Amino acid sequence: MTTEDVPLLAGEHLTRVFGRGRDAVRAVDDVSLALRPGEITTVVGESGSGKSTLARLLLRLLTPTAGRLLLDGRDVTRTSDTTAYWRDVQAVFQDPFSAFNQFFTVRRLMARARRLLGPDLTDARVAEALEQVGLRPGDVLGRYPHQLSGGQRQRVMIARALLVRPRVLIADEATSMLDASLRATILNVLTDLRAETGLAILFITHDIGQACYVSDRVLVMRSGRVVESGPTDEVIFAPTHEYTRRLLADVPRLHG
Ligand SMILES: Nc1ncnc2c1ncn2[C@@H]1O[C@H](COP(=O)(O)OP(=O)(O)OP(=O)(O)O)[C@@H](O)[C@H]1O
Ligand SMILES: [Mg+2]
Repeated sequence: MTTEDVPLLAGEHLTRVFGRGRDAVRAVDDVSLALRPGEITTVVGESGSGKSTLARLLLRLLTPTAGRLLLDGRDVTRTSDTTAYWRDVQAVFQDPFSAFNQFFTVRRLMARARRLLGPDLTDARVAEALEQVGLRPGDVLGRYPHQLSGGQRQRVMIARALLVRPRVLIADEATSMLDASLRATILNVLTDLRAETGLAILFITHDIGQACYVSDRVLVMRSGRVVESGPTDEVIFAPTHEYTRRLLADVPRLHG
């Protein structure tokens, strides 16, 4: 295997079981995936299919019941240094409002990255991250969350994730709370980022319609398992699994 073949981040046979015995839920069941620089991979599936559990495993917020996590081919499943890991792998979640402390300005929220960055967290770096998501630092740094629009809040959350210059960004329903036009703007921010910085993005959504706009590869999850995966065009336009067809049927404009 040459070095180019080694994925940036890979999950191998990841499994996470919650509960025991008859009540056990296999929230993620033998899922393998590989993220590469500059690629957007989408995980799509209905509510409860295990998408967020997979995200939390990849973020090392949960320990897998079975399977491995490899960063640059190195097994990091149980290494103790999560701080170093989180400099490489960052996340954005669904509801930016709940992630904010309402009494914190944007400046103060961004300063929390000091935990991971130490003295490397400079004003210039904060400004750079805000500009990367199309915000003017002077406009937003002094504001409180309620003084920002929903789209601005989600951009701030992406900027905060970018502060550490991660190589992987996991976006779990990061656009689901936004209306169609704001969603398109955020999706553009993500696609620009991967082109400019080579960021690998894992985009998680219950809406297969969103998958086709941004992603290079799609994984379809159902009941913790990947039922179908491949290049976006193949999965969207030539789905082999009945479940994928059913998800697509809810997006009539795709085939119209
Ligand atoms: N901490 C937990 N303890 C017990 N069960 C859990 C826990 N977290 C998730 N589950 C269960 O695991 C399954 C997958 O949940 P998960 O949140 O990963 O799905 P999801 O695809 O993200 O759904 P949604 O689209 O609603 O966000 C569900 O059956 C859920 O109830
Ligand atoms: Mg979820």
